[in-house]
Amino acid sequence: MLKGKSILLGITGSVAAYKAIDLIKGLKNEGASVSVIMTGASKHFVTTMSIEIAASPGPVVWDMFETRMAHIDRPRNADLFIIAPATANTIGKYACGIADNLLNAALLAFTGPVIIAPAMNWRMWQNPMVQKNMQQLASTGVITVGPETGPLACGEEGQGRMAGIETIIEAARKVFTPQDLAGEQVLVTAGPTREYIDPVRYISNRSSGKMGYALAKAARRRGAAVTLITGPSAVNVPDGVETVRVETASEMQQAVMQRIGDSSLFIMCAAVADFAPEATLPEKAEKSAIPSLKLRLNPDILLETSRLAKRPFTVGFSAETGHNIARAKKKMSDKKADMFIFNDVTKEGAGFDSETNEVTMIDGHGETALPCMPKEEVAAAILDRITSLKRGG
Ligand SMILES: Cc1cc2nc3c(=O)[nH]c(=O)nc-3n(C[C@H](O)[C@H](O)[C@H](O)COP(=O)(O)O)c2cc1C
Repeated sequence: MLKGKSILLGITGSVAAYKAIDLIKGLKNEGASVSVIMTGASKHFVTTMSIEIAASPGPVVWDMFETRMAHIDRPRNADLFIIAPATANTIGKYACGIADNLLNAALLAFTGPVIIAPAMNWRMWQNPMVQKNMQQLASTGVITVGPETGPLACGEEGQGRMAGIETIIEAARKVFTPQDLAGEQVLVTAGPTREYIDPVRYISNRSSGKMGYALAKAARRRGAAVTLITGPSAVNVPDGVETVRVETASEMQQAVMQRIGDSSLFIMCAAVADFAPEATLPEKAEKSAIPSLKLRLNPDILLETSRLAKRPFTVGFSAETGHNIARAKKKMSDKKADMFIFNDVTKEGAGFDSETNEVTMIDGHGETALPCMPKEEVAAAILDRITSLKRGG
């Protein structure tokens, strides 16, 4: 998304200024080039040399009268302007159209998308003047990320921490992503479920949640409102995604049935445990009781949703061992899904807990085999196919 993009980064006088080094590295890792304008105050917090080394090639500029025309040339050549961290001072000046330093002058000369990541003490952030300035900027289309709540440099706790580097980079990716899912309400399930034998033991499977989380993140990036219903997973929840945490298959079933009516796209990616103990014992069972454990079939959530009078565009997943694509096709027809993703989890680089996946997309028009790719790219390809099918192609 950011490959080949030219990003202009403004760094202002906040304690969080040192984090700009990681932001520059992260943006460059994505294939973007980064040029930097600092404010005079920011040089108290991070050296120009450190920033210059991180952002090289290209000098870092801060003095309007020493680097004449930089306030016009740098914004003219940029695809995106990010201010991170953004102080109350720079935000206020930007909102009022003041151009008394190189950074604020460059902001006024820039005509493209702007992302700001405020960072300040929570009292400064809550100040009505700062909030009014933020509203003013939002009304002109400036994108804000954060600030987050947590411990602050001053020793206090509250809302004021600069958004995380990944959050800022994700906002930048979104700027360059077509918003073709804007207006869609996407419901995604992810991860395994746990079926308790007793308070300490459960039946589950190897699903990590990575594929479902990647789908939720990719749909959000394309402008959808996304709800993620997830079984236990250690993956970070994507920004801007409403998350519902469940443990058991029946909790997931309830959560899905409550929300599916409001959804326009349903992606059932969770690996719901097929079986559960007939009853969960209230206390830790004796080992000897385990071999005679009685199991029952769990609800088939996808099948249940197929019986609804009105169902959104529905995508199922079929994790198989071996090239058992016929089984995936049968599931798709039994469950009346619009699309199914066949996933041979025994393949190298595919399936559970892997960073990559290799899947075949099945729909009414046939099969499309995708190569082994990072799960985020697999998610993007699946959403491409869904949008094309929803448009009738
Ligand atoms: C130790 C210290 C930390 C500061 N941290 C912040 C901060 O996190 N956010 C903020 O808005 N201002 C902070 N300030 C105040 C700004 O540095 C000050 O308003 C400055 O004029 C900002 O200039 P600039 O917006 O041109 O960078 C801090 C000041 C000091 C001395």
